[in-house]
Amino acid sequence: MFAKTKSNNCCGSAIASVKVLVVGNGGREHALAWTLLQSPKVKQVFCCPGNGGTATMKGCENLPLAVDNFAEIARAVKENNISLVVVGPELPLSLGITDYLQRYDIEVFGPTQAGAQIEASKSWAKAIMAEAGVPTAKAETFTEAAAAKAYIQQQGAPIVVKADGLAAGKGVIVAATLEEALGAVDNLFKEGFVKLVIEEFLSGEEVSVLALTDGKNIVPLLPARDHKRIGEGDTGKNTGGMGAYAPAPLVTPELMEQIEREILQPTIATLGKKGIDYRGVLYAGLIITPEGEPKILEYNCRFGDPETQAVLPLLETPLDELLLACVRQKLSQQPPIRWKEGSAVCIVAASGGYPDAYEKGKVISGIEQAEATGAIVFHAGTKLQNSQLLTDGGRVLGITATGTNFLEAIARVYAATERIHFDGIYYRPDIGHRVNRQ
Ligand code: AMP
Ligand code: GLY
Repeated sequence: MFAKTKSNNCCGSAIASVKVLVVGNGGREHALAWTLLQSPKVKQVFCCPGNGGTATMKGCENLPLAVDNFAEIARAVKENNISLVVVGPELPLSLGITDYLQRYDIEVFGPTQAGAQIEASKSWAKAIMAEAGVPTAKAETFTEAAAAKAYIQQQGAPIVVKADGLAAGKGVIVAATLEEALGAVDNLFKEGFVKLVIEEFLSGEEVSVLALTDGKNIVPLLPARDHKRIGEGDTGKNTGGMGAYAPAPLVTPELMEQIEREILQPTIATLGKKGIDYRGVLYAGLIITPEGEPKILEYNCRFGDPETQAVLPLLETPLDELLLACVRQKLSQQPPIRWKEGSAVCIVAASGGYPDAYEKGKVISGIEQAEATGAIVFHAGTKLQNSQLLTDGGRVLGITATGTNFLEAIARVYAATERIHFDGIYYRPDIGHRVNRQ
């Protein structure tokens, strides 16, 4: 491997040009790369491994490296004079990419392996929530099916069964009946999970607050709403997310202030007390109860997807400036974030069959026509093959449009989405249906 060297291009606002590496290959990573390239200081963005969209975006280049190939990522950072690494997905964070790259004095946006446990282990996260005293669902952790089942029988349904470990969005079963909950316990242990969290069911409206943090200070981005279910009216199976909008009108400035004070700040303070170096995004998946009280459902250690595709197009402050302020623990010196007026909506165009089995390799057309309407088309599961753009995943594209208000953004985003075609395309026609249209 190469010698450890002190990075020679890491000195705050003196930097004339910044090269950034975005780790990951989803719509979130395309949105991060796109937003970084809007910054006057960002001259080039690399993506590893990236997708068809990052391969063709001006100023962006894909590096064919797996997200867990830390040694090659470190080598590429040095070879290309990259001054900042932004980690998209939870997997490399939970495997310790930040700890690894920091050993080579590489500046990384994303928590260390210890911090990433907040997403990688639900039981650990619950312990942090308890220590921080933040409002959340009552929960117990189990390592044996019999004890988990006895607890479920005692509590009754509805009840939530959560796998303790990364499960690509498939580890949470919101069980309406006892039978379903008991079955979920068997299934999750059979799948190889060794710990489960059984949690009280909370009802209300969900919102995602993605907060930037330098380990001490917290700066929330605009609140977003994700539609996780595959079907219209938020029905059917859970997915990675079928569409999102920002700002979520449910979160008033007063409520955001309460979320910061009662949930985000105590959590970061607790992580700090444990000696955890958390510099990145603390993603709060919240439920707002019918009484208007925010409760934390879960934490993620990264930007949300598709929320990021709706939030970042409204950002006016250069993204690199904010991310570097987190990495350099200077968030308190950062002026308030500037946002564009209005709303943004992202529609996810998925492969037919998703979130179950689906086919890949379908020709995608209409992206230019969609972009001609003013929308931005972020790629997720796409690849370029012989200059042809093909589907290569379940969630294929995230089409985002902004508007001076929510209804304008909705009208624009669907006008753009209708122009896109591939065999089996599926998207929800009702993203944003919960927003009051009066
Ligand atoms: P996750 O995969 O951890 O993001 O959770 C998936 C979804 O499960 C969340 O977005 C919620 O819709 C739902 N969920 C998680 N915990 C609870 C809970 N305690 N009560 C009700 N729904 C929950
Ligand atoms: N959109 C949900 C997530 O990023 O986990």
